[in-house]
Amino acid sequence: MKIIMLGAPGAGKGTQAKMIAEKYQIPHVSTGDIFRANIKNGTELGMEAKKYMDQGQLVPDELTVKILLDRVAQADCANGYVLDGFPRTIPQAEVLDKALTELGESIDYAVDVNVPDENIVRRMSGRRACLACGATYHIAHIPPKKEGICDTCGQELVLRDDDKPETVLKRLQVYHEQTQPLIDFYTAKGVLRTVDGTVDMKDVFGAIVSILEG
Ligand code: AP5
Ligand code: MG
Repeated sequence: MKIIMLGAPGAGKGTQAKMIAEKYQIPHVSTGDIFRANIKNGTELGMEAKKYMDQGQLVPDELTVKILLDRVAQADCANGYVLDGFPRTIPQAEVLDKALTELGESIDYAVDVNVPDENIVRRMSGRRACLACGATYHIAHIPPKKEGICDTCGQELVLRDDDKPETVLKRLQVYHEQTQPLIDFYTAKGVLRTVDGTVDMKDVFGAIVSILEG
């Protein structure tokens, strides 16, 4: 099963992708997590990506596409995957589509997690992220068992550099300009499904499972 998670920054793509990956035993592939791991490790790719991420801008397609295609070509992706944060532009979607077509494959579902802009800024300031394993928490809605520590891997949780309110507003603007057109792209392919992302995360997940198993 190949699934794409669509939605604004902070809509809950990462939260839901992690639950999907666990339930269906497929890898959770997040380009944002890959970039953040590279920043943490001080790689050249990380340095380059950080310049864009800290401004709320997209990392250029040339860098992003190669990383994603390399990742999904790995053996653990043979039975499918859930993509979180990719594609984010029409050119990225077209490259993915072409690569899959050459393999005789296609995307099964593009799930749009719908959350209005008003809710987003509030959510982001409370988010805490684990840069080691990619787990995401919220200080009010989804707190870790021990404050500031990741339940999964025991590493310290951080406020992401790009979660400052002014950067979040920029990311929302970039989302509307460059990523939202993907909704029409996947609607035309007949694979778009929309879920209400404003309800409790378990209910969002229930709606997604109904779609995947419906
Ligand atoms: P990325 O890491 O993908 O960030 P994003 O799309 O901006 O999305 P987020 O991770 O911020 O939000 P999310 O939807 O995953 O929400 P989450 O589950 O954490 O990308 C970061 C940057 O990398 C980009 O800006 C760009 O520069 C670059 N980049 C990445 N991919 C790229 C690409 N393909 N091309 C170019 N550049 C790229 O949830 C948010 C918060 O809400 C959490 O605290 C969570 O606990 C809480 N929450 C979740 N669900 C609920 C709920 N139902 N109710 C209440 N709270 C909830
Ligand atoms: Mg995320």
